Amino acid sequence: MNKKLNHKIFQVITEVADEMKLETYVIGGFVRDIFLHRPSKDIDIVTVGNGIELAQKVSERLKNKPQVHVFKNFGTAMLKYKDLEIEFVGARKESYQSDSRKPTVESGTIEDDQNRRDFTINALALGLNAHNFGVLVDPFNGIKDLENKIIRTPLDPDITFSDDPLRIMRAIRFSTQLGFEIHDQTLRSIAKNKDRIKIVSGERIIEEINKIILSEKPSVGFKLMEETGLLAIIFPELQKMKGVDRVGGIGHKDNFYHTLEVLDRIAPFTDNLWLRWSAILHDIAKPVTKKYVEGQGWTFHSHNFIGAKMIPEIFKRMKLPLNEKMKFVQKMVQLHMRPIVLSEDVVTDSAVRRLLFEAGDDIDDLMTLCEADITSKNTEKVNRYMRNFMLVREKLKEIEEKDAIRNFEPPIKGELIMEIFGLTPCREVGLIKDAIKDAILDGIIRNDYDEAYSLMMQKASELGLTPKTIQ
Ligand code: CTP
Repeated sequence: MNKKLNHKIFQVITEVADEMKLETYVIGGFVRDIFLHRPSKDIDIVTVGNGIELAQKVSERLKNKPQVHVFKNFGTAMLKYKDLEIEFVGARKESYQSDSRKPTVESGTIEDDQNRRDFTINALALGLNAHNFGVLVDPFNGIKDLENKIIRTPLDPDITFSDDPLRIMRAIRFSTQLGFEIHDQTLRSIAKNKDRIKIVSGERIIEEINKIILSEKPSVGFKLMEETGLLAIIFPELQKMKGVDRVGGIGHKDNFYHTLEVLDRIAPFTDNLWLRWSAILHDIAKPVTKKYVEGQGWTFHSHNFIGAKMIPEIFKRMKLPLNEKMKFVQKMVQLHMRPIVLSEDVVTDSAVRRLLFEAGDDIDDLMTLCEADITSKNTEKVNRYMRNFMLVREKLKEIEEKDAIRNFEPPIKGELIMEIFGLTPCREVGLIKDAIKDAILDGIIRNDYDEAYSLMMQKASELGLTPKTIQ
């Protein structure tokens, strides 16, 4: 244990704390992560007294005297030392108002401070004065909960969650990240207090959801959100995917569980948050497009296009970025069925060229999403798809090497067509451009200026156009 406190910064804090006669501890996530053998660069220091003064004195004692950032309103101070971020705060008691996350703060003892923390595993503290250096203070048996992999609040969970409802999300996030179970009573209290999440800002909530999504097995968190009723509040579109409709005994698959399976399946292949979001949203329009057609069964016509259209509203509400990240997710959702359809059919060069043209540099991510999307229980079917996907991937490589379609720019642009035929923007220009693009994608002509030029002349003459000047 003391090895983990070997870092120079702890020696300095001890010296200064002893000189100032301040009872001081390292507490929270950093201590938890020592026991979990997880690396951690954020250190929280609690002192029974003035945390800001302690931070200032510590800084004076360090090489280069790092700047101390003081947050007067919170009574905290932060400094950066080497690759560490160290926050100092005076021990406190807190009481919260029912309509806000902003606490009123009073100073208190270390026990008071531990009482007001979120989970037993986050309330562990190690002494930092010379007489108790590295000695564990664990009033709620957090070590036992760490061993048994349990998330549990130190106080009655109704109090802990009602004090700060963000903790509802944190419980689910820690459970997902660490593979811990949420203690029964704590879980029941999450369900009971779920509506309190409404006073938490969207930005804080999405931070937790994104951490869940980036975990090894994100489905754990989404199932917990669903079971406790949180999902219906914060992500109703996903909630609506749960359940199976039947007509004449014929049901479709449960799209909520399918989506979670796709999300878990894609996780080992990518740390890209936005590709993982694409997995969550790929079938998001299935509930609104669902239709039973006699003789055909359940259909979800155009769910990829409608899904892509639903995304801006979802992103806006959930405080996700409305920039190229969102556009990437829209593109993935819109194209997610293309490689599957392609692999069901004969894999023609022209279909592969068209896919490459539309997906561009995102083609590999799209293939990864599609492979994760095959969740059938029928192993023969899965193997067939996977074989076909391999074929599609090989063909993609082959065609990319030959035709450079990935970031395809047509060799003849609209401006040139207008100049040659003395046109302003009009239907004919579009028709000629499309004819050239289609001919290249279908392999009728090569991706080459001269061949495209001949085709333009031919198409123009069919449209009754004559060149204004001979180029
Ligand atoms: N804490 C809390 N309630 C919150 C947020 C934080 O009681 N809503 C306490 C916990 O004791 C926590 C510590 O403050 O350990 C530090 O919080 P933070 O840095 O947000 O989280 P960590 O536990 O360090 O974990 P992570 O870095 O993974 O978020």
